[in-house]
Amino acid sequence: MRLAVVGCGYVGLVTGSCLAEAGHEVIATDVDSARIGMLNVGRLPIYEPGLDRVMESASAAGRLRFTSDCAEAARVADAIFICVGTPPLDSGEADLSAIDNVARQIASAARSAKLVIEKSTVPAQTGEQLRHALQIYGRSNGAAFRVASNPEFLREGTAVGDFFHPDRIVVGVEDPESERQLREIYQPFLEGRFHCPVHEPKCPPAPGPVFLVTTIASAELIKHASNSFLGLKISYANVIADLCERLGGNVEEVTRAMGLDPRIGPHFLNAGLGFGGFCLPKDIQAFIRLAGKHGVDFGLLKEVEAVNKHRIEQFVEKVRRALWVVKEKTVGVLGLAFKPNTDDIRFAPAIDVVRRLIAEGARLRVSDPVAIERARSVLKGVEFVEDAYHVARGADALLLLTEWREYRELDWKRIHREMGRPLLLDGRNILAPAKMKELGFEYHSFGRPELSANPVLVSS
Ligand SMILES: NC(=O)c1ccc[n+]([C@@H]2O[C@H](COP(=O)([O-])OP(=O)(O)OC[C@H]3O[C@@H](n4cnc5c(N)ncnc54)[C@H](O)[C@@H]3O)[C@@H](O)[C@H]2O)c1
Repeated sequence: MRLAVVGCGYVGLVTGSCLAEAGHEVIATDVDSARIGMLNVGRLPIYEPGLDRVMESASAAGRLRFTSDCAEAARVADAIFICVGTPPLDSGEADLSAIDNVARQIASAARSAKLVIEKSTVPAQTGEQLRHALQIYGRSNGAAFRVASNPEFLREGTAVGDFFHPDRIVVGVEDPESERQLREIYQPFLEGRFHCPVHEPKCPPAPGPVFLVTTIASAELIKHASNSFLGLKISYANVIADLCERLGGNVEEVTRAMGLDPRIGPHFLNAGLGFGGFCLPKDIQAFIRLAGKHGVDFGLLKEVEAVNKHRIEQFVEKVRRALWVVKEKTVGVLGLAFKPNTDDIRFAPAIDVVRRLIAEGARLRVSDPVAIERARSVLKGVEFVEDAYHVARGADALLLLTEWREYRELDWKRIHREMGRPLLLDGRNILAPAKMKELGFEYHSFGRPELSANPVLVSS
């Protein structure tokens, strides 16, 4: 089947490349012509492990191409995935102007029947609006449009593996033909007929994905409900961490035991600086606004959001307490991306922390394994440094803000030697307090006992 992908960001590029690698003919388009220019010479505008190999392989097979002409993409494709951004408006609601724009372009260009698939995360009832918009904008050219929702659950950093090996594929449809087409599109993934570059030479045996057919409204709700629940788990663990700090517990012991209960599960129970990125914060906001608009007060999620926002202030307060005077202190920062294995800094807690400390007069020296280039455009007045040991050199404090594997594996003895004052604040709870104390650091994290001198080493 000939497919089009509109929007060549994280989701669009992964979707387009993986569908093409699985055997479909894909044409991908974006309003940003510089981005299309890069893609046309084989350069990726984002960092996503493994995506370069999939894109290269699909392009070499002649199944993936890029164009800045959305009308061409809409004309040649049988099914069109909308993967454009849905950022938050000031009100917290999702900004659907890019979706509206794409609907207008598809409707004016189409000359035959199209299945238009929402892959962007959108509030419930967007499908209805989209169908209506396509009819209105395309009224003069007579093409028929069917609309479906196919929310995307990939995680940046492991997006390629997630696309090839999803737990579930959710399709919200309102007619049998749309369901048939979507089954055909996903058939290679349901049957394991694809070349997965993540697990060379062979993927480990795993159950195939569940193919869930729902109404469009349910599919839209599934995505918001899932992301909101993940945020809820993180905020819950963070409040438990606060309690541990006051009552002398250890949040890692508590959440580990909680996670062993299969009704709870171990994931997304890590205490720390809280969640960021282009999904959870904005999706939770949009879900709260959507509920409110329809007369449901989602107070539970408002609290999830409030707890998460407060993590930044709590961390900065830890820095203030440890440094006493922040002004003119040299503070090193390890990690800017909102999570490891991505260069995405959108709504990254690390960026907020850095901005707060700049405002308080600290001298910031910051680093990240891949996000420095992106951060340059949003952080002014900081020194960017590639090498983590250089970040630590002469610093009054070092802050660990993203849980990159590279940072776990640093020579911490050397970091200790490099620092002016060996003060380490771990915003992600990735280092062992006892080990850091033994190395001579003054070490602070979230919800774990602050060790006094002569620590006892606990075996794992
Ligand atoms: N990033 C994730 O991990 C993730 C995961 C699941 C779902 N989502 C959802 O998928 C959607 C896209 O997210 P993303 O992270 O890929 O965003 P992104 O910002 O990386 O990419 C969006 C792309 O759409 C392009 N675009 C905007 N308007 C356009 C238009 N009118 N025509 C053509 N292209 C246009 C932009 O230039 C950009 O390249 C969002 O709704 C997001 O919530 C994201």
